[in-house]
Amino acid sequence: MLISSENYDQLKPMYPLLVQQFVDDYNLMHGVALDIGAGPGWLGMELAKITHMKIVFLDLSQDALDTSRRNFEELNVDNDVEYIKADVHELPLEDDYADFIMSRGSIWFWSQPQKGLKEIERVLKPGGVAIVGGGLGRYLPESMRARLQGSIKQRLKERMETRPNPAEFKAMVEKARLNNYRILTESEGGGRWVEIRK
Ligand SMILES: C[S@@+](CC[C@H](N)C(=O)[O-])C[C@H]1O[C@@H](n2cnc3c(N)ncnc32)[C@H](O)[C@@H]1O
Repeated sequence: MLISSENYDQLKPMYPLLVQQFVDDYNLMHGVALDIGAGPGWLGMELAKITHMKIVFLDLSQDALDTSRRNFEELNVDNDVEYIKADVHELPLEDDYADFIMSRGSIWFWSQPQKGLKEIERVLKPGGVAIVGGGLGRYLPESMRARLQGSIKQRLKERMETRPNPAEFKAMVEKARLNNYRILTESEGGGRWVEIRK
Protein backbone atom coordinates (compact mmCIF):
# COMPACT_ATOMS: atom_id res chain seq x y z
CA MET A 1 0.00 0.00 0.00
CA LEU A 2 1.52 3.28 -1.05
CA ILE A 3 0.79 6.41 0.92
CA SER A 4 2.92 9.37 0.01
CA SER A 5 3.04 12.53 2.07
CA GLU A 6 1.96 14.30 -1.13
CA ASN A 7 -1.40 12.47 -0.92
CA TYR A 8 -1.79 13.50 2.69
CA ASP A 9 -0.93 17.12 1.99
CA GLN A 10 -3.78 17.26 -0.47
CA LEU A 11 -6.21 15.52 1.91
CA LYS A 12 -5.22 17.45 5.03
CA PRO A 13 -8.03 20.06 4.92
CA MET A 14 -10.55 17.20 4.94
CA TYR A 15 -9.55 15.68 8.31
CA PRO A 16 -10.75 18.46 10.68
CA LEU A 17 -14.05 18.62 8.79
CA LEU A 18 -14.59 14.86 8.96
CA VAL A 19 -13.73 14.75 12.65
CA GLN A 20 -16.05 17.69 13.39
CA GLN A 21 -18.78 15.66 11.66
CA PHE A 22 -18.05 12.68 13.95
CA VAL A 23 -18.07 14.91 17.05
CA ASP A 24 -21.40 16.46 16.02
CA ASP A 25 -23.02 13.17 14.99
CA TYR A 26 -21.91 11.17 18.03
CA ASN A 27 -21.59 13.83 20.71
CA LEU A 28 -17.97 12.96 21.44
CA MET A 29 -16.04 14.59 24.27
CA HIS A 30 -14.79 12.06 26.87
CA GLY A 31 -13.71 8.44 26.96
CA VAL A 32 -11.51 6.30 24.74
CA ALA A 33 -11.29 6.82 20.97
CA LEU A 34 -9.64 4.12 18.88
CA ASP A 35 -8.26 5.05 15.44
CA ILE A 36 -7.81 1.79 13.50
CA GLY A 37 -5.47 1.84 10.52
CA ALA A 38 -4.47 5.27 11.78
CA GLY A 39 -1.66 5.84 9.27
CA PRO A 40 0.08 9.14 10.11
CA GLY A 41 -2.63 9.84 12.69
CA TRP A 42 -4.52 12.80 11.27
CA LEU A 43 -7.96 11.67 12.47
CA GLY A 44 -6.86 10.99 16.02
CA MET A 45 -4.94 14.26 16.11
CA GLU A 46 -7.95 16.28 15.02
CA LEU A 47 -10.10 14.51 17.61
CA ALA A 48 -7.58 15.27 20.33
CA LYS A 49 -7.62 18.99 19.44
CA ILE A 50 -11.35 19.39 20.06
CA THR A 51 -12.19 16.79 22.75
CA HIS A 52 -10.79 15.40 26.00
CA MET A 53 -10.78 11.86 24.66
CA LYS A 54 -7.91 9.44 25.15
CA ILE A 55 -6.62 8.70 21.64
CA VAL A 56 -5.45 5.19 20.80
CA PHE A 57 -3.64 4.93 17.48
CA LEU A 58 -3.62 1.38 16.12
CA ASP A 59 -1.93 0.23 12.94
CA LEU A 60 -0.32 -2.82 11.44
CA SER A 61 2.66 -0.74 10.38
CA GLN A 62 5.34 0.35 12.87
CA ASP A 63 6.35 3.12 10.45
CA ALA A 64 2.82 4.51 10.49
CA LEU A 65 2.76 4.43 14.30
CA ASP A 66 6.15 6.13 14.54
CA THR A 67 4.88 8.86 12.23
CA SER A 68 1.66 9.28 14.21
CA ARG A 69 3.68 9.53 17.42
CA ARG A 70 5.94 12.23 15.94
CA ASN A 71 2.95 14.14 14.59
CA PHE A 72 1.03 13.84 17.85
CA GLU A 73 3.96 14.99 19.97
CA GLU A 74 4.17 18.17 17.92
CA LEU A 75 0.53 18.95 18.68
CA ASN A 76 1.17 19.86 22.31
CA VAL A 77 -2.19 18.66 23.58
CA ASP A 78 -2.71 17.03 26.98
CA ASN A 79 -4.97 14.14 25.91
CA ASP A 80 -3.90 10.69 27.03
CA VAL A 81 -2.50 8.75 24.10
CA GLU A 82 -1.42 5.21 23.28
CA TYR A 83 0.11 3.56 20.20
CA ILE A 84 -0.66 -0.08 19.44
CA LYS A 85 0.88 -2.15 16.68
CA ALA A 86 -1.78 -4.72 15.85
CA ASP A 87 -3.90 -6.30 13.17
CA VAL A 88 -7.59 -5.43 13.12
CA HIS A 89 -8.36 -9.11 12.59
CA GLU A 90 -7.08 -9.89 16.08
CA LEU A 91 -7.25 -6.84 18.31
CA PRO A 92 -5.21 -7.18 21.52
CA LEU A 93 -7.91 -5.34 23.42
CA GLU A 94 -10.50 -6.38 25.95
CA ASP A 95 -14.22 -6.55 25.14
CA ASP A 96 -16.11 -3.24 25.55
CA TYR A 97 -12.87 -1.21 25.43
CA ALA A 98 -13.58 1.92 23.37
CA ASP A 99 -16.31 4.54 23.50
CA PHE A 100 -15.68 5.52 19.89
CA ILE A 101 -13.90 3.74 17.05
CA MET A 102 -13.05 5.30 13.72
CA SER A 103 -11.34 3.70 10.79
CA ARG A 104 -10.93 5.53 7.52
CA GLY A 105 -9.37 4.17 4.34
CA SER A 106 -8.16 0.95 5.95
CA ILE A 107 -10.91 -1.66 5.46
CA TRP A 108 -10.07 -1.89 1.73
CA PHE A 109 -6.77 -3.52 2.73
CA TRP A 110 -8.12 -6.05 5.24
CA SER A 111 -7.93 -9.67 4.05
CA GLN A 112 -11.14 -10.53 5.96
CA PRO A 113 -13.17 -7.35 6.40
CA GLN A 114 -16.00 -9.24 8.11
CA LYS A 115 -13.58 -10.50 10.78
CA GLY A 116 -12.22 -6.98 11.34
CA LEU A 117 -15.73 -5.58 11.66
CA LYS A 118 -16.66 -8.27 14.17
CA GLU A 119 -13.53 -7.45 16.21
CA ILE A 120 -14.51 -3.79 16.18
CA GLU A 121 -17.98 -4.69 17.45
CA ARG A 122 -16.39 -6.78 20.21
CA VAL A 123 -14.11 -4.03 21.53
CA LEU A 124 -16.77 -1.33 21.27
CA LYS A 125 -18.29 -0.31 24.60
CA PRO A 126 -22.07 -0.74 24.98
CA GLY A 127 -23.56 2.63 24.14
CA GLY A 128 -20.60 3.42 21.90
CA VAL A 129 -20.36 3.87 18.16
CA ALA A 130 -17.89 2.89 15.46
CA ILE A 131 -17.60 4.33 11.98
CA VAL A 132 -15.61 2.32 9.44
CA GLY A 133 -15.10 2.86 5.73
CA GLY A 134 -13.77 5.56 3.54
CA GLY A 135 -14.74 8.94 2.23
CA LEU A 136 -14.44 12.66 2.67
CA GLY A 137 -17.42 13.40 4.93
CA ARG A 138 -20.48 15.63 4.58
CA TYR A 139 -18.88 18.91 5.65
CA LEU A 140 -16.44 19.25 2.75
CA PRO A 141 -17.27 22.13 0.39
CA GLU A 142 -18.35 20.85 -3.04
CA SER A 143 -15.43 22.59 -4.78
CA MET A 144 -12.93 20.71 -2.65
CA ARG A 145 -14.87 17.44 -2.92
CA ALA A 146 -14.78 17.52 -6.73
CA ARG A 147 -11.05 18.26 -6.71
CA LEU A 148 -10.18 15.54 -4.19
CA GLN A 149 -12.44 12.91 -5.74
CA GLY A 150 -10.81 13.58 -9.10
CA SER A 151 -7.32 13.07 -7.79
CA ILE A 152 -8.29 10.04 -5.67
CA LYS A 153 -9.79 8.39 -8.78
CA GLN A 154 -6.66 9.14 -10.76
CA ARG A 155 -4.43 7.70 -8.04
CA LEU A 156 -6.47 4.50 -7.75
CA LYS A 157 -6.27 4.12 -11.52
CA GLU A 158 -2.50 4.56 -11.52
CA ARG A 159 -2.15 1.94 -8.78
CA MET A 160 -4.72 -0.32 -10.48
CA GLU A 161 -6.70 -0.40 -7.23
CA THR A 162 -10.48 -0.50 -6.96
CA ARG A 163 -12.93 0.12 -4.17
CA PRO A 164 -16.16 -1.85 -3.68
CA ASN A 165 -19.25 -0.33 -5.27
CA PRO A 166 -22.25 0.26 -2.96
CA ALA A 167 -23.69 -3.22 -3.57
CA GLU A 168 -20.34 -4.90 -2.96
CA PHE A 169 -19.79 -2.84 0.18
CA LYS A 170 -23.25 -3.82 1.49
CA ALA A 171 -22.55 -7.51 0.79
CA MET A 172 -19.19 -7.25 2.53
CA VAL A 173 -20.74 -5.71 5.64
CA GLU A 174 -23.65 -8.18 5.70
CA LYS A 175 -21.16 -11.04 5.89
CA ALA A 176 -19.98 -9.74 9.28
CA ARG A 177 -23.43 -10.38 10.82
CA LEU A 178 -23.20 -7.32 13.02
CA ASN A 179 -25.97 -6.83 15.55
CA ASN A 180 -26.74 -3.15 15.05
CA TYR A 181 -25.45 -1.23 12.07
CA ARG A 182 -26.34 0.98 9.15
CA ILE A 183 -24.57 1.78 5.92
CA LEU A 184 -23.96 5.41 5.02
CA THR A 185 -23.05 6.58 1.55
CA GLU A 186 -21.85 10.08 0.81
CA SER A 187 -22.51 10.53 -2.88
CA GLU A 188 -22.43 8.58 -6.13
CA GLY A 189 -18.90 7.27 -6.48
CA GLY A 190 -18.07 8.77 -3.08
CA GLY A 191 -17.63 7.54 0.46
CA ARG A 192 -19.02 4.40 1.99
CA TRP A 193 -19.17 3.82 5.72
CA VAL A 194 -20.66 1.37 8.13
CA GLU A 195 -21.80 2.77 11.45
CA ILE A 196 -21.82 0.14 14.19
CA ARG A 197 -23.60 0.53 17.50
CA LYS A 198 -23.61 -1.66 20.58
C1 LIG B 1 -4.74 4.45 3.48
S1 LIG B 1 -4.13 4.35 5.11
C2 LIG B 1 -5.34 5.33 5.96
C3 LIG B 1 -4.75 6.12 7.07
C4 LIG B 1 -5.71 7.01 7.86
N1 LIG B 1 -6.78 6.27 8.49
C5 LIG B 1 -6.27 8.12 7.04
O1 LIG B 1 -7.46 8.12 6.71
O2 LIG B 1 -5.51 9.04 6.74
C6 LIG B 1 -4.52 2.71 5.62
C7 LIG B 1 -3.84 2.26 6.92
O3 LIG B 1 -4.41 1.03 7.33
C8 LIG B 1 -3.39 0.22 7.88
N2 LIG B 1 -3.81 -1.19 7.82
C9 LIG B 1 -3.98 -1.96 6.71
N3 LIG B 1 -4.37 -3.20 7.05
C10 LIG B 1 -4.49 -3.21 8.41
C11 LIG B 1 -4.85 -4.23 9.36
N4 LIG B 1 -5.18 -5.46 8.96
N5 LIG B 1 -4.86 -3.90 10.67
C12 LIG B 1 -4.50 -2.65 11.08
N6 LIG B 1 -4.15 -1.66 10.22
C13 LIG B 1 -4.14 -1.94 8.91
C14 LIG B 1 -2.18 0.53 7.01
O4 LIG B 1 -0.96 0.17 7.63
C15 LIG B 1 -2.34 2.02 6.77
O5 LIG B 1 -1.64 2.79 7.73
